[in-house]
Amino acid sequence: MAAIEIVLGDITRERVDAIVTAANESLLGGGGVDGAIHRAAGPRLARAGGAIGPCEPGDALVTPAFDLDPPVRHIIHTVGPVWEGGGYGEADVLASCYRRSLAVADEIGARTVAFPAIATGVYGFPPDQAARIAVATIKATPTRVERVRLVAFDDDAHRLLQAAMSASE
Ligand code: APR
Repeated sequence: MAAIEIVLGDITRERVDAIVTAANESLLGGGGVDGAIHRAAGPRLARAGGAIGPCEPGDALVTPAFDLDPPVRHIIHTVGPVWEGGGYGEADVLASCYRRSLAVADEIGARTVAFPAIATGVYGFPPDQAARIAVATIKATPTRVERVRLVAFDDDAHRLLQAAMSASE
């Protein structure tokens, strides 16, 4: 099981083997964290994403990290669920994002991975429930990833992730 660290900051500055982006199905880039990562990785990321997309919600696909500095070698693109009230399997799709991203990390030999709070922005997933799903899924997923960093972009998200970690211990 991977060790989980909760951090506050900009995921594009993470010094890990692979950074996960909260993409849309086209993998051509968008706003939010996806926009930040595409800006940092450069235009080749959208071209590479477009070449392997579309990506189904809950799945994860990998590209090089292009202009991001070492040690970041890969971007793992995962598509979260659009929140529609909770009765449409959104929690299972979100759990699948974390599970599939760890499986892809194992395929590429990544030992350290940074995740944003997938689906909690534009896609509207309640951040407290999303934090619990992230922590529980990572703890329940066998992986050779040694360290997972859950990167909160603001204090509220940071507090929710810390609370989810405490509740899981
Ligand atoms: N570093 C870390 N986290 C960030 C950053 C950043 N630089 N920028 C934004 N975030 C956080 C947001 O605060 C939010 O908590 O990422 C989380 C996910 O929000 P979104 O980026 O809106 O992602 P999501 O809700 O999954 O919606 C995906 O938005 O940008 C489009 O192309 C994307 O269509 C897709 C949709």
